[in-house]
Amino acid sequence: MQPDAHFVNSSQILNMKVKVLFVCLGNICRSPLAEAVFKHKIKESNLTDWLEADSCGTANYHIGDTPDPRTIQNALRNGVTIDHRGRQLKPADLAHYDIIFAMDESNYNNIMKLERAYKYADKVAMMRTFDPQGPGDVPDPYYGNEKDFQEVFDILDRTMDNLINHLKENRLKA
Ligand code: 4NP
Repeated sequence: MQPDAHFVNSSQILNMKVKVLFVCLGNICRSPLAEAVFKHKIKESNLTDWLEADSCGTANYHIGDTPDPRTIQNALRNGVTIDHRGRQLKPADLAHYDIIFAMDESNYNNIMKLERAYKYADKVAMMRTFDPQGPGDVPDPYYGNEKDFQEVFDILDRTMDNLINHLKENRLKA
């Protein structure tokens, strides 16, 4: 028998996993790096029992592909290992994930074009909402050079610290 909401007590809520999804266009540069940096930090902080993450792209260009070699190399130079295969965002992701981060405004608009996305609008946010240096796009490094890949890394590194602190503080209040 499924317990109804009445029987879900606060300790059960505390045992639930918070599922975070990072979304960009191709799912080979920004969002797999966001996922890897987030996973690296939650592992270091022993938070993997209640936080989990994945990433995907709004486009179908790179389904099944490993991340861009420049992203993999840049992450490694910064001490982060990436393990991901490209996949495309699907409408069911909006119901499944608790928080969905768009890397830029165009990604955000593409997410909101999905079937019934309006129902889940409260879950969708811009990644840099949590950047202590201010909001904006995580710039697409695909046509850029190593400096651009490092800029993306630096943005995601400080943004994930702030996001994880925010998640920890709010969990304590649950
Ligand atoms: P991402 O970058 O959205 O950060 O993964 C891109 C990757 C591939 C393409 C564009 C952006 N592309 O046009 O193939």
